[in-house]
Amino acid sequence: MGKTRTVFVCQECGYKSVKWLGRCPSCGEWNTLVEERDFSEESFSLIRREDPKVLPVSSWENEKLIRESTGYSNLDNALGGGLVKGQVVLIAGEPGIGKSTLLLQVSDRYARDKKVLYVSGEESGSQIALRAKRLNINNPNLLIYPEISLERILKVLEQENPSLLVLDSVQTTFSEKLESSAGSVSQVREVTYRITEYCKERNIPAFIVGQITKEGSIAGPKVLEHIVDTVIQFEGERFNFYRIVKVIKNRFGSTGEIAVFRMTDRGLEEVAEPSAFFISEKAKAPGSVVFPHTEGSKPVLLEIQALVIPALYTTPQRKTQGFDPNRLALILAVLEKEAKIFTRDQDVFVNVAGGMTVKEPSVDLAVAMAVVSSKKEKEIPQDTVIFGEVGLSGEIRAVHFGDLRLKEARRFGFRKALIPKNLDLEIEGMEVLPVSHISEAIEFLF
Ligand SMILES: Nc1ncnc2c1ncn2[C@@H]1O[C@H](COP(=O)(O)OP(=O)(O)OP(=O)(O)O)[C@@H](O)[C@H]1O
Ligand SMILES: [Mg+2]
Repeated sequence: MGKTRTVFVCQECGYKSVKWLGRCPSCGEWNTLVEERDFSEESFSLIRREDPKVLPVSSWENEKLIRESTGYSNLDNALGGGLVKGQVVLIAGEPGIGKSTLLLQVSDRYARDKKVLYVSGEESGSQIALRAKRLNINNPNLLIYPEISLERILKVLEQENPSLLVLDSVQTTFSEKLESSAGSVSQVREVTYRITEYCKERNIPAFIVGQITKEGSIAGPKVLEHIVDTVIQFEGERFNFYRIVKVIKNRFGSTGEIAVFRMTDRGLEEVAEPSAFFISEKAKAPGSVVFPHTEGSKPVLLEIQALVIPALYTTPQRKTQGFDPNRLALILAVLEKEAKIFTRDQDVFVNVAGGMTVKEPSVDLAVAMAVVSSKKEKEIPQDTVIFGEVGLSGEIRAVHFGDLRLKEARRFGFRKALIPKNLDLEIEGMEVLPVSHISEAIEFLF
């Protein structure tokens, strides 16, 4: 077997060199050159072997997407209706959060009438068997193959020809054709590339487990996320009993969709009504606000909590969980300038209850009102939801999906909503309070 041609590629600027160099001569960065397979020779192999036809856009629609269930309806919904043939899904998350557990459970349900190959380089066969026993999984169609060599995995795939592949994980799998060690940038890329190529050719879906870095992003090069069709990430706390699966990229559906699970001693269980679950323990105290969150098509009600207390040290603290602390600093500054709510000698803590991370700016107004509520020690009425983006001069800006948010709030018995004036929404059975400035919102509530 001839050796594959490799080159050394700078991970910063893309400079290529035939030999390794400590410093990239192009961008001057140190230690950025990594050995990779020379993709320039075969970069077209991801495209199907037969020549594609040139047809008007409408003629292509006959190529219907056939979706198959993962066995979990909330996961199907998050993926846009199930797995598509040939779809490669990268699933990432912190150690111990439940990636292997979820995939073993999905494999089991998928293997009811089809063959599934679960490849694990992370655990031995008996370790997986132990987990399977705890999860009460005993399916003859579910094949476990503890292996780390990509070449051997591909050979077994040819022999077994499964209908679903799980690769746990990409970081432990390595190609014998590359010199670098398992988990290196070039290996991770090669493994993902070759597995994706196989899945597209055979038209089978695959889950690939990816580890994450200390900072919480997916380990390995960004190209990894470009190669695969879908990226899903586990959120939530390892020590809590709920797990949130969030779709952050999807070529076959919308992003931002979530599926919520509960970790029990029998494995992960679906949470059918995430909103009910997130607000079930809502505090009836100052500083607590319900915010209808959505990045995808399905909104969930979340509880935003703020705590404002006299500062312990000369520099007051601003600490957040599930929310950007810089955004909090900005909101506090606006509250001070535009509404004369001063917190400069106070510590401010903000928490998104339930372990969700909220990145959309529509949460601003809810955070601001939670802060004011805690500062004034006055409760926000229990039947009220709040959303809207806060601008630098205190203006409340319109946000997406206003009607979806209101409908979800109404479904759970909320009767009032503080929303941006520009949205101009009405909904039966709810009193909508449109506000255009942060001081107006404070006046309405307190
Ligand atoms: N006996 C048990 N009862 C209840 N929960 C358990 C039990 N054993 C394990 N768990 C849960 O399963 C989790 C481990 O899940 P899993 O091994 O699927 O994680 P992972 O994401 O694959 O981790 P890694 O990245 O290390 O492979 C533990 O954190 C724990 O919450
Ligand atoms: Mg695992």
